[in-house]
Amino acid sequence: MQFSLNDFLIAVSFALDFVEMDRLGMQSNHGKRTAYLTLCIARRLNLSEEEVYDAAALSILHDNGLSESSLYEQLPQEWDHAVTKFEGSRGHCVIGEKNVKDYPFLTEPEDVILYHHERYDGNGFFGLKGDKIPLISQIIAAADSFENHFKNAGGDYCQERVLKWVSGCESGMVSQRIALVLHQMANERSVWENLSDDKLEQALKASVPSFFLEVPLDKIRQVTGVFSRIVDSKSSFTRRHSKGLAEKAARMAQYYHKDQEETARLIIAADLHDLGKLAVPNSILDVPRALTAEEFETVKKHVYYTRVALENIRGFEDITEWASNHHEKLNGKGYPFGKTGDELDFNSRLMGCLDVYQALTEERPYRKGLTHTQAIKILYDMAGSGFLDKLITKDLDMVFG
Ligand SMILES: [Fe+2]
Ligand SMILES: [Fe+2]
Ligand SMILES: [Fe+2]
Ligand SMILES: [Fe+2]
Repeated sequence: MQFSLNDFLIAVSFALDFVEMDRLGMQSNHGKRTAYLTLCIARRLNLSEEEVYDAAALSILHDNGLSESSLYEQLPQEWDHAVTKFEGSRGHCVIGEKNVKDYPFLTEPEDVILYHHERYDGNGFFGLKGDKIPLISQIIAAADSFENHFKNAGGDYCQERVLKWVSGCESGMVSQRIALVLHQMANERSVWENLSDDKLEQALKASVPSFFLEVPLDKIRQVTGVFSRIVDSKSSFTRRHSKGLAEKAARMAQYYHKDQEETARLIIAADLHDLGKLAVPNSILDVPRALTAEEFETVKKHVYYTRVALENIRGFEDITEWASNHHEKLNGKGYPFGKTGDELDFNSRLMGCLDVYQALTEERPYRKGLTHTQAIKILYDMAGSGFLDKLITKDLDMVFG
């Protein structure tokens, strides 16, 4: 399939920025802005197009480890600056690196995310020093710091603060070469214009080298698997949800003798089906009780966000449908659109049945997973009342019983 991995990343990067919004309580665009700055630095350092392409992907993904919910409990209280607090744990570097280990980069970069908070003088989380730090890590660290000085607490631009930081950063934070580039950038009008929230996405798209690669679906799956892990790690309640759904989708595809291509597409849809949950605050996802009506309305939006992210990706049209219809019901009582049976194709119905089955059978901190017999009874009841597809429910019973 002709595919641009970075187009895909930019399309779903809003989801990563939502994680920050959830943690910080404000819209930040930190990931996108760091990516744009990374590209500016990389180009000025004359990296090859392939390296710039990988630097773009890595910078969009640089804080992916932050969705891990357990990180927040470990942070010292005395950190006052929101963003420092937010990235102030080396855990997010370790988790972030692990999450991208299967990503199909072009230049085989190593440990870039792991070392994205190292300082040139060796005072980073892991004490790596000078050019022992991978160059792309050095660039992302510089871009990340630039970004963190970009806005003040009120959300206004702070050019003065950036300029002050840039003048001080030869002191050891970055190499001299990068310090020089930062000086140029901080004084360039177009850089400042492109960093504004309304121009940012366009500027980012325009500065990423456009490689449309012939990417086999199993490689694309390695990328979507990264997002599946990010979504699953967001809430301890659903730690294996997307992974479990993808495994079950694969089993059903085999049962229905789907060809390799359709099987891969179904698995990708399962990986990404709850992507929009990154936009739902953990304070709602993690309540061990029935949700209030208002909370439920917020949770329901996740499928809408999944659709908004995926529908911009060329070649993902059917995947978008299967992934974002998983809460629709045949009798029109589902969400977000209240679609009815005639609007739901076979794979959307399959995804709907599998999502319920997966949710019921997985263990939650406040209850054990249901057995197959208990879960399938609920599915049969739902099929009887017109919510789920009867024949698919029977097939699930056959395959998983
Ligand atoms: Fe970070
Ligand atoms: Fe960051
Ligand atoms: Fe969902
Ligand atoms: Fe789900």
